[in-house]
Amino acid sequence: MVRVLVLVCIIPFLTCAVRAVQFIFGDSLLDVGNNIRLPRSLARPALPWYGIDFGNGLPNGRFTNGRTIADVIGDRMGLPRPPPFLDPSVDEDVILKNGLNYASGGGGILNDTASFFVQRFSLYKQIELFQGTQVMIRKKIGRQAADRFFTEASYVVSMGTNDFVNNFLLPGVANSWTYSATRFIDLLMTTLQQQLKMLYSLGARKLTLFGLGPLGCIPLQRILSSTGACQDSTNRLAVTFNEAASELVLGLSSSLPNTSFKFGDAYGIVLDVIHNPLKYGFNNSASPCCSLGPIQPTLICTPVSILCRDRSKYFFWDEYHPTDKANEIIASEIISKLGYLPANETTATTNHY
Ligand SMILES: *[C@@H]1O[C@H](CO)[C@@H](O)[C@H](O)[C@H]1NC(C)=O
Ligand SMILES: *[C@@H]1O[C@H](CO)[C@@H](O)[C@H](O)[C@H]1NC(C)=O
Ligand SMILES: *[C@@H]1O[C@H](CO)[C@@H](O)[C@H](O)[C@H]1NC(C)=O
Ligand SMILES: *[C@@H]1O[C@H](CO)[C@@H](O)[C@H](O)[C@H]1NC(C)=O
Repeated sequence: MVRVLVLVCIIPFLTCAVRAVQFIFGDSLLDVGNNIRLPRSLARPALPWYGIDFGNGLPNGRFTNGRTIADVIGDRMGLPRPPPFLDPSVDEDVILKNGLNYASGGGGILNDTASFFVQRFSLYKQIELFQGTQVMIRKKIGRQAADRFFTEASYVVSMGTNDFVNNFLLPGVANSWTYSATRFIDLLMTTLQQQLKMLYSLGARKLTLFGLGPLGCIPLQRILSSTGACQDSTNRLAVTFNEAASELVLGLSSSLPNTSFKFGDAYGIVLDVIHNPLKYGFNNSASPCCSLGPIQPTLICTPVSILCRDRSKYFFWDEYHPTDKANEIIASEIISKLGYLPANETTATTNHY
């Protein structure tokens, strides 16, 4: 521990306190400004009313009105918010102070997920970008200090939603007719295992994988049934994915030396909110706050969409994504399930994850 502090203190641009940072990998649920900088991407939250309850209220790259789940969790733990990888102001100093967020709307565990969005970072691509970041940081502070920096950091991975919603569940996509549900989930698990092992080999020791929510209840799935009810078959896929992913993560955590890999999901509480919105202070848990109305569902919220009167009373922001308020509930559930502690309530080298 003494050695850690000495190492860090001789790096001039860091204070002597060991700064805990996060590296975030994910899809649109955690994207904070990557897709908005991909000019050809068809999944860009670039127009109002995205971001209306965040900062200056202009679109900032988040696919929601306010904070993401990772924003809320990081804030509670006293961690800096990692900027998006594509933010032009990001350099080595910024990364050493704040970590980095590679999440990208449309990204999947599988490379070919959501290819119709044209531009997005799959999980493999995000890991490749992270390897580039490591090269930069090693050049800046040397191999040993860099290794320590990446080992001390916390890692968040949130992927899989698009592999179902924008891949397996789409009738025109090859995976929907080449794979049974069981074999498709096996494929996701084999791939995810490789990806998590890659992150381990790159230094990740404290990692949390977020599970899926009840995907069959997102407005986009509900419009598939005449009654607007949740799609039970889709929800069952999410449950099966979560069970397998939880087993995978816990298995890796016990077999890889020195790791604390955790699995956190909020599936149960989200389903309860959806069935009992009033109990949680919501007034609507079925339709999006930002919408053109039930007849013209659009994938994204646009300036001509109608906004609900009270955004804190809606669970869904658009056809896919939860509101700020919903993300807060999901984050609180994950925090309490995993027993996260704020960074200031742990010692400098044993960490919160
Ligand atoms: C997925 O993409 C990565 C590059 O981002 C590539 O290295 C890898 O081979 C691809 N995997 C498959 C199965 O296509
Ligand atoms: C595990 O941690 C111990 C103590 O920090 C260290 O000596 C050892 O090399 C680590 N092993 C691996 C495989 O990282
Ligand atoms: C809840 O929504 C209903 C109509 O859907 C409305 O009449 C009622 O005033 C709303 N309540 C709150 C607290 O927003
Ligand atoms: C940690 O920080 C939070 C707010 O950032 C504060 O409310 C809390 O009291 C702090 N805890 C300790 C033990 O310093």
